[in-house]
Amino acid sequence: MRVFVSRRLPDAAIEPLRTHAEVAVHEDERNPVPRALLLREAARADGLLVLLTDRVDRELLDAAPTLRAVSVMAVGYDNVDVAACTARGIAVCNTPDVLTETTADLCWAILMACARRLYEGQRAIVEGRWAAWAPYFLAGQDVWGATLGIVGLGRIGTAVARRARGFGMRILYAARSGHAMAEAETGARRTELDALLAESDFVVLLAPLTPESRHLIGAAELARMKPTAVLVNAARGPLVDEEALVEALAARRIWGAALDVFEREPLPADHPLLALPNVVAVPHIGSASVATRTAMARLAAENLAAVLGGGRPRACVNPEVLGGTLGRAAPA
Ligand code: GLV
Repeated sequence: MRVFVSRRLPDAAIEPLRTHAEVAVHEDERNPVPRALLLREAARADGLLVLLTDRVDRELLDAAPTLRAVSVMAVGYDNVDVAACTARGIAVCNTPDVLTETTADLCWAILMACARRLYEGQRAIVEGRWAAWAPYFLAGQDVWGATLGIVGLGRIGTAVARRARGFGMRILYAARSGHAMAEAETGARRTELDALLAESDFVVLLAPLTPESRHLIGAAELARMKPTAVLVNAARGPLVDEEALVEALAARRIWGAALDVFEREPLPADHPLLALPNVVAVPHIGSASVATRTAMARLAAENLAAVLGGGRPRACVNPEVLGGTLGRAAPA
């Protein structure tokens, strides 16, 4: 059997694959595999280990007659046409759980950086604009005691909510279904999205990207938010209509945005969002701790090895292709 790994990962992490297959690795850590090379490798692969930068679509699947499994080193898998994989009996695996807490930490890091104007503060010092202590110099928004609205209360949303208790926050959430256990654990209360937008001081997006959730937050939704509110997106860029967001921020219709993800990644350095003082932007680093990225690489490899070895992967988003009784993976 043959497996293609689309980015350089630690040897120890991909070791489990070597017992089942000959493993070819795109030996570049920083840059995505060129599309033509991915297609060429897919054409003779039984398994692919890919990143969120690699598109697994019908074109690729049509060119990959022996493919049995696609393992994504990410919890989100909107880059993979899961329905097309399922139709061909190809298992799609992802890496939930191992990144939950690290990603929740990052949500809080950017939320607080925006609320308390940390980057603006550092820039003010570096640029020699810190003249003296002044009553309203870099005055931001309080986090403690505020209302947090989480859109998508999956694993990461729940981990964000758990942290909010330490800040004495009121916690709302909007989701397609209720989450009784998370409510009991965090005190979060379910509301409609419109009410969440109107009442929250911090709106945190943690829903998966699907055709239905694309541009979930557009001009109308931004208009419902408080002028003092901050929008936080640590899920997928296309959940937000970025053009509408730029307008709302520039017109100060909302107070700020803290963004880890963007409609187009990498975000061009001359993007209008980056010219706005009330934006905190970081380059899709939600799960980027050394330990967590290593755990993700290992899990992605183990998932793939399990499918190719005829066993059960720890996480599979279309378990129906495996047969047996493996439960459907819950959303992130
Ligand atoms: C990162 O964005 C992930 O989905 O794991």
